[in-house]
Amino acid sequence: MNCDGSAILSAQGLVKSYWLGTTQVPVLRGVNLDLARGEFLAILGASGSGKSTLLHILGGLDRPDKGRVLFNGNDISSFTARQLNDYRNRRVGFVFQFYHLLDELDVLENVYLPAMIGKGLVGWLTHKRTAVQRALELIDQVGLGHRIHHRPWQLSGGERQRVAIARALMNKPDLLLADEPTGNLDWATGQGILALFGALHRSGQTIVMVTHDQRVASQATRTVFLADGQVQPGHTNPSSSNNSKIG
Ligand SMILES: Nc1ncnc2c1ncn2[C@@H]1O[C@H](COP(=O)(O)OP(=O)(O)OP(=O)(O)O)[C@@H](O)[C@H]1O
Ligand SMILES: [Mg+2]
Repeated sequence: MNCDGSAILSAQGLVKSYWLGTTQVPVLRGVNLDLARGEFLAILGASGSGKSTLLHILGGLDRPDKGRVLFNGNDISSFTARQLNDYRNRRVGFVFQFYHLLDELDVLENVYLPAMIGKGLVGWLTHKRTAVQRALELIDQVGLGHRIHHRPWQLSGGERQRVAIARALMNKPDLLLADEPTGNLDWATGQGILALFGALHRSGQTIVMVTHDQRVASQATRTVFLADGQVQPGHTNPSSSNNSKIG
């Protein structure tokens, strides 16, 4: 295990409700969670248990009603707009269940897109060569070196998810957050994605993955359970995907 013991991310007493008209729908009722640097954590919960809500709050895409998220000990709710953008775009890489790739762009452009964010034209032109080089390396790493000029709609689901993972890694995030990354794939294709996460974990990447599937969760190194709006104590997985290769 690559963890060095220091918490990269802590959730403390997260509470979140949605309002449907005048009806309050409580989703998170005091979530506490510590993530060590280098961990590959699975959060397992039933559909509707609040997994996406929690992941969005951890990634700074949504705000809790109460409680706080500490990143390296710093409360992200105290971040300035610029710091919060930096957190979302550079510290965190997000992988979504339905990929969210841009159909107008090819694989290479989709992957280097996050490196363009926040740079002016001159800044981007200065940086572009390095960014393209990194994007090509990542595309190779996820096994799609032969598909760089394909558009998303010309790819299989598993290939699209590989592009989305490469994109999430583009800015060398400290933290990879994945929302049901295999939820839309058949089992064998999903295994390839999980093997890729296993390889990333072994190279030191910190990963949080939410899923409703026990078999998927068991491939992370630790599983916790989200139920009744709280994270229940979990367990370390003895036979995680740590032995698998990039497939
Ligand atoms: N914008 C919203 N307005 C009202 N209710 C919402 C909203 N977003 C989510 N909810 C409700 O909050 C609960 C948790 O939703 P969430 O998407 O976090 O669950 P989930 O665990 O990710 O589910 P799934 O496994 O189906 O993706 C659900 O009951 C959902 O209906
Ligand atoms: Mg969800």
